[in-house]
Amino acid sequence: MSVPLGRVLIADDQVNILDALKLLLGGEGYEVATAASPAELIKELERSDFDVALIDLNYTRDTTSGQEGFELLDRMKGIDPTLPVLVMTGWSSVSGAVEAMRRGARDYIEKPWDDDKLVAAVQTQLELRRALRRSRRLQEENTRLQRRDLPTFIAEAPAMKAVRETIERVAASDASVLITGEHGTGKEVVASLLHRLSARANRPLVTMNAGGLSEGVAESELFGHVKGAFTDARTDRIGCFELADEGTLFLDEIANMPIRLQPKLLRVLQTGEVQKVGSSRVIFVNVRVISATNADLSAEIATGRFREDLLYRLNTVVIHLPGLRERREDIFPLAEHYLARFGERYRRPLEGFDRSARQALESHLWPGNVRELGHAIERAVLMARGRDITAVDLGLQAPVGGQPASEEMSLDQAEKIFIQKVLARHGGDVRKAADQLGMSRSALYRRLQHFGL
Ligand SMILES: Nc1ncnc2c1ncn2[C@@H]1O[C@H](COP(=O)(O)OP(=O)(O)OP(=O)(O)O)[C@@H](O)[C@H]1O
Ligand SMILES: [Mg+2]
Repeated sequence: MSVPLGRVLIADDQVNILDALKLLLGGEGYEVATAASPAELIKELERSDFDVALIDLNYTRDTTSGQEGFELLDRMKGIDPTLPVLVMTGWSSVSGAVEAMRRGARDYIEKPWDDDKLVAAVQTQLELRRALRRSRRLQEENTRLQRRDLPTFIAEAPAMKAVRETIERVAASDASVLITGEHGTGKEVVASLLHRLSARANRPLVTMNAGGLSEGVAESELFGHVKGAFTDARTDRIGCFELADEGTLFLDEIANMPIRLQPKLLRVLQTGEVQKVGSSRVIFVNVRVISATNADLSAEIATGRFREDLLYRLNTVVIHLPGLRERREDIFPLAEHYLARFGERYRRPLEGFDRSARQALESHLWPGNVRELGHAIERAVLMARGRDITAVDLGLQAPVGGQPASEEMSLDQAEKIFIQKVLARHGGDVRKAADQLGMSRSALYRRLQHFGL
């Protein structure tokens, strides 16, 4: 026997109609199941999977209103929402067919039917169903792939609680998010996390870095241009807005956006209408905007380098990433994460950090934040000679220019930094540090506690 073209479920309360349809579709190569009542139809559906259903709208309860058929459609949708349903209607009830389609039926067939038309309608629905299933499967696979690709984001410190909560709360929405924080605090990671957790995850995340671009270049970059728009425009160019359509546009280093371009950017954000440079045609885009900066935008506004109205369009939600020194609880989890990553990359099965390394990691100020930590661990993995990474492998230096000038510090601040430097010099050894500082070990411990070191 050949493989059936597909499985069709037919429901009608008239046995002669069921028989005729079974003969017709069976003869065309379909496998046919029949049901003489709504209850039987539901039972069949619950028992197995069909490719198409062909149902009458009227059964014995009342034979003209179609009400039974409508209820049946709703129940069928509850069992298999993707099953295409064709309804059969008497010659006078077009309104019934319209209502049935409103409730999810795909098409209708008038009784008495034309054999060829009926077979063609069944075939069409079957193909649509297959295409739909295929595309759902692909979509599902994509989503899974992307989930697997979620960037690592370590945020266990109490100072990161608000950050984590905000990400969870706003990721799915289309709200504009402004991410602030020093260099290397993870602004780009958060932007990609927000995108990956949103409904736009299967669409592009396009990054535009406004840093160091001249006004003209930035304008083309954002909106695109047409050939001949200016001397160098030899071909058409698609802008970031267009590329990010239905996805997310990440405007990095937004404080550097040329001031003359800012009103135009604001207008596009407000209207979703983009015009390429040199063209009068309007393109409509649907873009979610995430921006990031390590500058103090209110200071930029005060000096006239940034427009306040643009800021208000960008900062519906603000996520501020604290510096690594303000979330010391994250230092070790991050260090372990990098150790595993670089250990694998360089094939060095290191076990962990010895005491001196831990103290060095803890007392360092990390002016370059997570990025600096990543580099330090990578270097240490390459340097390490033993099973554990030591303070010497880390080779952390006191930062150059990472602190306020000493004459601007309070005595307390200066003492803290001095103690940290001495500790780092002795690889975190408190006894040696205390010796150098000319104080007892317990006095040094008290100072360390006082400074939260
Ligand atoms: N919370 C975190 N968990 C894991 N990795 C992180 C985290 N934060 C940052 N990183 C990593 O640190 C590095 C720097 O992060 P990122 O590029 O996002 O910083 P940034 O704030 O955009 O810096 P810049 O202002 O210099 O552009 C990246 O390699 C990133 O993967
Ligand atoms: Mg960045």
